[in-house]
Amino acid sequence: MADIHIAEVNEKLNRFGFLNVEVDPSLDLFGEIERLKKEKNAILLAHYYQEPDIQDVADFIGDSLGLAQQAEKTTADIIVFAGVHFMAETAKILNPTKKVLLPDLKAGCSLADSAPADLFRAFKEEHPDHLVISYINCTADIKALSDIICTSSNAQKIIESVPKDQKIIFAPDKNLGAYLIKKTGREMLLWNGACMVHEIFSLEQITRLKARHPNAKLISHPECEDPILQISDYIGSTTGLLKYTQTDSSTEYIVATETGILHQMEKESPHKLFIPAPPHNGCACNDCPHMKLNTLEKLYMCMQYELPEIHMDETLRLAARKPIERMLQISALHGL
Ligand code: 13P
Ligand code: SF4
Repeated sequence: MADIHIAEVNEKLNRFGFLNVEVDPSLDLFGEIERLKKEKNAILLAHYYQEPDIQDVADFIGDSLGLAQQAEKTTADIIVFAGVHFMAETAKILNPTKKVLLPDLKAGCSLADSAPADLFRAFKEEHPDHLVISYINCTADIKALSDIICTSSNAQKIIESVPKDQKIIFAPDKNLGAYLIKKTGREMLLWNGACMVHEIFSLEQITRLKARHPNAKLISHPECEDPILQISDYIGSTTGLLKYTQTDSSTEYIVATETGILHQMEKESPHKLFIPAPPHNGCACNDCPHMKLNTLEKLYMCMQYELPEIHMDETLRLAARKPIERMLQISALHGL
């Protein structure tokens, strides 16, 4: 590696989570990233919550299910994941021989953090007759303790694929879990986790905003709390929300999810107005602090030096792979 000593690299990765060296400000980062993709046969996968510049340079932009499906079928040698750690980890679980890169190793997830593996194992042992369905926003350790993984776009179908008399634990998102209990009529034991971004929306502020925009529809991600979902016109995954705004006849929407999705909504429907749902206290906290750790500069450095890379213990990988494969099979059966 030019100019950087290996000990310095390791120190930077441990301390910062990325190669914290200055990038020449005159570089055309879009051009450089395109060049590196071709040279290295790398695919760049980005979640809708990434900053607009990253979305614009990505080969595929999607929700968690779409990204996992792309990661499973890619023929690229390197997968560069512009998202958070559990997403890159899922790509590695599906592709043990490929190099999987994440621009910033510290891009975590409050929802994944809300389910520590030792506590979850103990909870599972207290309910040995329960099947464990886990939302993909969890660590590989939690996936390895699960029977089936789901995302917000296939969770209902996955729950409905389980026999009616089978008891279920749903983890780690209590809000998505409560929403799915209502949708499926199934009793489920819920883990007490939540997403810091989707819990921040203010019912009072949204109600005021709706009064000012009487024609605007409220569209929400199911990770939001129940009072927000109750007054929503449409509830869906990020891909579901985007598709809804493309096909629905309204021209104004209040969007209750992370603000990154607005970039694709505005690109797809430039004549429509998209208003981010207001959080408590007028803060900018509906930007996910984890997703937004990735920047174009970090992405370029990561592709240039092929670091930071996701590594995984093989026993853990094999255990975590099984419930992801079940999810992908059930999704394919339903054309998802
Ligand atoms: P989806 O993109 O699957 O809807 O998930 C949203 C999310 O919170 C990802 O972290
Ligand atoms: Fe995790 Fe929420 Fe950020 Fe998604 S938006 S990565 S669930 S903290």
